[in-house]
Amino acid sequence: MPSASSPIGVFDSGVGGLSVLQALRAELPQERFVYLADNGYAPYGERGDAFVAARTQAITAYLRNVHGIKALVVACNTATSSAIVLLRQTHPELPIIGIEPAVKPAAQGGSGSAVLVMATPLTIREDKYQKLAASFCDLADVISLPCPGLAERIEQGHFEDETLDAYLQDLFRPYRDRDVEYIVLGCTHYPFIRRQIADVVGD
Ligand code: DGL
Repeated sequence: MPSASSPIGVFDSGVGGLSVLQALRAELPQERFVYLADNGYAPYGERGDAFVAARTQAITAYLRNVHGIKALVVACNTATSSAIVLLRQTHPELPIIGIEPAVKPAAQGGSGSAVLVMATPLTIREDKYQKLAASFCDLADVISLPCPGLAERIEQGHFEDETLDAYLQDLFRPYRDRDVEYIVLGCTHYPFIRRQIADVVGD
């Protein structure tokens, strides 16, 4: 049985969740964390629900059985959108915290113009995300932007090459003339290329 001093488990398909772990450690310096990067099976965002459900169940069982975690942070928008409901049903006694694209603060904080939500193709296909986006469409023009292959590039450390710049130029080109007020980084890998995104779209 976990106790108050047991660690909190945090996982992602790879390095993306480290951006979440950093924030967790700053917020909860007294806690211990165990981080699992499932990079042998990344990227999740190009797969289907059955695959992501199987991975999240296997990881949760491992973190509970081997590390005795007292709570779990799903530091992955894709795994949250696709599998958190089932995960909570399977582990009702374990607190499970997920993450979803920050559509709400972007829509509420703006003046009604466009909010561009970058996320993996699987996140955007999920009902959970579609409902989230629809629930704020009165406040902003929420545009969903699937980014195939982007998390994988980041996972492989391809941050600086010109192919990333070309990818981002192509991705944002159709929205050049739109009044975009916010870009939501709806995948935990994307904060690692925040500067490269800003180089393409401006501040
Ligand atoms: N970092 C994950 C997310 O927040 C997904 C990356 C992947 O496609 O594996 O969605």
